[in-house]
Amino acid sequence: MTAREMLPGIFEVGAIDWDRRLFDELIPLPQGTSYNSYLIRGSEKTLLIDTVDPPFARTLLDHLDSLGVKTIDYVVANHAEQDHSGTLGTLLARYPMARVVTNAKCRDMLKDLLLIPDDRFQVIQDREKLSLGDRTVEFLFAPWVHWPETMLTYLHGDGVLFSCDLFGSHYATSVLFTDEDPVVYEAAKRYYAEIMMPFRSSIREHLQTIAPLEIRIIAPSHGPVYRKPAFILSAYRDWVSDRVENRVVIPYVSMHGSTAAMVRCLVDALVARKIPVQPFNLTATDTGELAKALVDAATLVVATPTTLFSPHPKAMYAVYLVNLLRPKIRWVTVIGSYGWGGKTLQMIKENLPHLKAEFLEPVMVKGFPKAEDLAALDRLADAIAERHRGLGSLGGGGP
Ligand SMILES: Cc1cc2nc3c(=O)[nH]c(=O)nc-3n(C[C@H](O)[C@H](O)[C@H](O)COP(=O)(O)O)c2cc1C
Ligand SMILES: [Fe+2]
Ligand SMILES: [Fe+2]
Repeated sequence: MTAREMLPGIFEVGAIDWDRRLFDELIPLPQGTSYNSYLIRGSEKTLLIDTVDPPFARTLLDHLDSLGVKTIDYVVANHAEQDHSGTLGTLLARYPMARVVTNAKCRDMLKDLLLIPDDRFQVIQDREKLSLGDRTVEFLFAPWVHWPETMLTYLHGDGVLFSCDLFGSHYATSVLFTDEDPVVYEAAKRYYAEIMMPFRSSIREHLQTIAPLEIRIIAPSHGPVYRKPAFILSAYRDWVSDRVENRVVIPYVSMHGSTAAMVRCLVDALVARKIPVQPFNLTATDTGELAKALVDAATLVVATPTTLFSPHPKAMYAVYLVNLLRPKIRWVTVIGSYGWGGKTLQMIKENLPHLKAEFLEPVMVKGFPKAEDLAALDRLADAIAERHRGLGSLGGGGP
């Protein structure tokens, strides 16, 4: 790949990671990812926004060489996480005059994480501007998207918002710009679910902060650049809103088929009531898809057998993850089969403290579900249908 021109004098000089399949040792990356880094040439100063994951240091340096960049005056660190900051040390060695421009919290983190010396920093305040001659950038602090030190950089005149992880997607593509591509929508929604969803209320505030800006382009640090910012802005407004969809998500596991039979019955009962439903078999599920389904679903039903007096470990993993991701679901319950007894229900309830959801009547069945158990699942479907009355089905910001 070569450096890609975004606007006259503004280049994307980062790296596309086509092969990466796991992020944070947790998040599956079915479509790879990219680490975007942006070079802005002003009439007097040259500025780089963010760097790349350390294995791609060579790519970044080659791109800068290919553009004949001899001097970099400023390197903006919007975020201290290593996928964007990890190459700072290499870059500072190559460009000895360059200063790292960031906020005090990010500076402290970069000193801790990357051992960057104090005298290489230029600390800026919220809403501070920096002139490059004929171009000016402004820094907007945006804590908790998704670390405490995160900030955005806005380029006046050209109207480009360099948003770092915010609005990003794990999506490797050679195409720099996206307009209203449904594939990018799904990738960005998945990214939001995995990384941003726990910080929904902070993001809501940041959307207010950037609302008055004239934004013509949003350039995130992962995935393609938005040439029609309204596309991703309206999607984010929708995802962070309190609106939930008429949809039920059922993560499930079943060792000998009894819980699976209950899931099939509940799915049928929901379909009969015209309630969209997404069962996820936890032995095969990509957890990113499960997270994405939770962004705007109204109800969660955890389906698990009792194993060693407890929820099956795969169900417990899903419960733990759901609790960390804090989706805005309104109703939750548990169904499952057991042999002699245990604390399955209690343990699931206790492990979802972050959910602000009403707990519906669970259905716990001894052995394989019988007629009365199927009737109980029908009643659960009725209870869900009653709660969902009036909810819409399609995302307002979707393609
Ligand atoms: C490894 C293992 C451990 C189990 N531990 C318990 C238990 O502690 N308490 C209980 O009520 N049932 C226990 N059971 C029985 C299952 O919960 C029961 O067979 C249930 O019907 C399985 O549902 P499934 O067909 O959906 O896997 C255990 C079963 C297995 C295979
Ligand atoms: Fe990050
Ligand atoms: Fe990132």
